[in-house]
Amino acid sequence: MSSIFAPSRRSLRYSGPDSLADVNIIVDDDIYHPVSNPDGIINLGTTINPLMSDIVDEFLRTRYKVHSELAIMYNHTSGSPALRATVADLINRHFTPSKEVQPQNVIAANGLTGLINSLAYTLLEDNESILMPTPAYNLLVTATEKRNDIHCVFADTEDIDQFCSTDIDDYLAAFSAAIDQASDRGNPVKAILLCNPHNPLGRCYERKVLKAVLEFCHRGRLHLIVDEIYALSALDGSFCSALSLEALPTDNVHVLYGISKDWGFNGLRLGFMISRNKLVLDTMKQAVGRFTRFSSLSEQFYIDYLSDTAFIDDVYLPTLRRRIRATKSVAESFLSDVHIPYTPSCAGFFLWVDLRRWICHFPATDDQETPEIQLAHHLIQHRVFLQPTKAFVTKQQGHFRFSYSRDQPVLQEGLRRLGTALAALEPPLGHKHRL
Ligand SMILES: Cc1ncc(COP(=O)(O)O)c(C=O)c1O
Repeated sequence: MSSIFAPSRRSLRYSGPDSLADVNIIVDDDIYHPVSNPDGIINLGTTINPLMSDIVDEFLRTRYKVHSELAIMYNHTSGSPALRATVADLINRHFTPSKEVQPQNVIAANGLTGLINSLAYTLLEDNESILMPTPAYNLLVTATEKRNDIHCVFADTEDIDQFCSTDIDDYLAAFSAAIDQASDRGNPVKAILLCNPHNPLGRCYERKVLKAVLEFCHRGRLHLIVDEIYALSALDGSFCSALSLEALPTDNVHVLYGISKDWGFNGLRLGFMISRNKLVLDTMKQAVGRFTRFSSLSEQFYIDYLSDTAFIDDVYLPTLRRRIRATKSVAESFLSDVHIPYTPSCAGFFLWVDLRRWICHFPATDDQETPEIQLAHHLIQHRVFLQPTKAFVTKQQGHFRFSYSRDQPVLQEGLRRLGTALAALEPPLGHKHRL
């Protein structure tokens, strides 16, 4: 008998071979830096946002002050009054809520990943399900399911335009079908989770669609959770928050927002839920709030960073959008030049690109080493990376998420490497721009 004791069966359910995690670890462990690691891998897959790092550096140099009490004292479990007031104020200025958001409507945690896990724990009984339309970002699935004895179920909405009011009937029909199937399996659906703006499609739901989903939830007595983490990166006023919906009671609408994307602070670990459901908020704080506590340094940093509201509203956000537009246009020109199809987007800082033309060079072997994972390894050999299909629940095999929000020189070098990697699979055809 082995003297090494095994972890619990419960935890083992969530471990084991994971070719997607492996490929991401290879990238993270050898990340490109123009000076210290020029042969490193340029990660054009992960949705980081370094576009505003000059402004962050300036803030750190001139305005950020740390006091020892911040490190010594325990901070509030689910956000200090000052943090919750800062977030409520931001939401009131930019999400046009139908009813003013109060600090007590906000709960804070160490990022949306943990917060989604806590919310699923708080809302669902064992064996119940959360419904998501596809394509869906796998992180939201694992964040929901891990540690919770609950399930994610999916409505196949990939053959319709789920963002557009013309397809509402088909959209809701897909929801109903998935709900019925889940019920038949003994996993009744208790909540719908939307991602708006959508990851990986970078699109926003029209107001009419959101309203129809809210009515659907109301009729079916379902919670509506909307992950709006890319809200302020939406271009051309395309974003409509679920908080802005009127008419129906919105007590069972829970909006998620965080600092990892619009603000580029992936490493600070802060995420928020905005809800009018006092019972859910209080229960979540009491039941699980302690386990998603965050650093008081992150908390103070974000409060201070947002304190100059005129700067945030008149300089920061317009600059962010201008920079997103500029890098997006570089990325789109490259994709068009080399004939890589992609889904047009209006939010976030990534594109859903179709690399099926190059997938055929990689035979399917097993469900770990899929052709997309093999293509990702091929890209890594050429020192560049895009996020493969496996990171999403989708039937659109051969699609990758291309996160273009990088400094121009890094983006240009990444695109050059991407072009070389794909050209290595398909020799030039004579056309000056073709790979
Ligand atoms: C839609 C969406 N929600 C949540 C997250 C995770 O956010 P956090 O860094 O706050 O855990 C991500 C990260 O990529 C995301 O794209």
